[in-house]
Amino acid sequence: MMKVLVIGGGGREHTIVWKIKQSPLVDKVYCAPGNAGIMQEVECVDIPVMDNRALLKFARAAKIDLTIVGPEAPLVNGIVDAFEENGMFCFGPSQKAAELEGSKAFCKYILNKYDIPTADYRIFDDYSQAQAFLLKQNGPIVVKADGLAAGKGVLVCMNRDESLIALDKMMKDKEFGAAGAKVIVEEYMTGDEVSVMALSDGENFVTLMPAQDHKRIFDNDEGPNTGGMGAYAPTPHISPAMLQQIETGIIAPTIKGMALEGRPYKGILYAGLMITRDGPRVVEYNVRFGDPEAQVILPLAESDLMEGILATREGSLQKMKWRNRPGAAVCVVLASGGYPGACEKGKKIHGLDHQWDDGVFVYHAGTARRGRDIVTSGGRVLGVTAVDVSIPRAIDKVYKAIKWIAFDGAYYRKDIAMRALR
Ligand code: AMP
Ligand code: GLY
Repeated sequence: MMKVLVIGGGGREHTIVWKIKQSPLVDKVYCAPGNAGIMQEVECVDIPVMDNRALLKFARAAKIDLTIVGPEAPLVNGIVDAFEENGMFCFGPSQKAAELEGSKAFCKYILNKYDIPTADYRIFDDYSQAQAFLLKQNGPIVVKADGLAAGKGVLVCMNRDESLIALDKMMKDKEFGAAGAKVIVEEYMTGDEVSVMALSDGENFVTLMPAQDHKRIFDNDEGPNTGGMGAYAPTPHISPAMLQQIETGIIAPTIKGMALEGRPYKGILYAGLMITRDGPRVVEYNVRFGDPEAQVILPLAESDLMEGILATREGSLQKMKWRNRPGAAVCVVLASGGYPGACEKGKKIHGLDHQWDDGVFVYHAGTARRGRDIVTSGGRVLGVTAVDVSIPRAIDKVYKAIKWIAFDGAYYRKDIAMRALR
């Protein structure tokens, strides 16, 4: 029986905690720092995710057998290395492997070197050179900050003027701080976007159920990008043949390439893909579960996530078959008014004690306790997931459920998963 520590405090981590708790291999789960929902399920400890030393100290004292890292920032900060140097097992990529998400320039280097399809690109660390390049371009183009920017460092520009403004934001006004010291200017791709996640032991991998996120804040994919406003799985945009093409042409060479670079990739590898007319191409890599994709993939997983994680430690993933339940899941994110910009916090959330139908799960993200109340404490507040026999049934169920929850300024998209029905 194992003691597990989950690091993070969003909807993804609530879902990981919920899934891990069901494993017969686990007898106690902690979460640092967690949120008001996670607190109802397991013991939360108030340690910041970037404090490697304090996390390690706690893990030692509580005799933690396995630590699972939810977000990218602690991975890029080297938490796995810090734990492993001290003989503690921590699930996720090392700092050097996490650079796949931590530096878009590094990601492009790997994609290019190992012949993995992606958008054409140029990298600049000099403002005037980037400006001169953009002045010569026509039509849509994408400007990206190299480093981590909480999912906001990508500006999709529809024309030259927009791209010059985007460049100024990154390199002149330093809106993304050091993350924008280097910028990647990228060819604009069109197609359906899908998220394919794989569990990797550094050599072998198993693919989880492909999902689709909804990144824009407003219905019909309008407005600015967010961390994700909802997700569903499975997605009809990926046939079994296409999934195989993604595995052999994208995931496998990435894992092989990372091993050849001396940065073996262990953990969850998340490929953000664009299904273009020329086939699937990589938009980005993330080094962790997607949020809110985890909120649909894990409720649909029949396999024990613990078994998968332990197999990555043993290097025995080739023996594992990842099994999904039949049916579909839809997750709708309930956000604070103003998100993804500044938003008000501390709003009392009503309706959380509703008796939910079977297959409805309310995962907490930005929530906190205030006395006996649960209040909002972030941009994305809750992720309501419904599992049912089909996408239409899950859509129906999730939108019926979400009506029970209310707080001042609450906002959610009304068209999550509708793309699957087109
Ligand atoms: P990223 O953080 O790299 O996933 O980018 C955020 C979002 O910007 C992606 O999910 C896409 O919707 C969009 N995006 C990024 N790169 C491109 C590209 N080369 N062409 C079109 N859209 C893109
Ligand atoms: N939902 C997109 C992400 O997790 O990066």
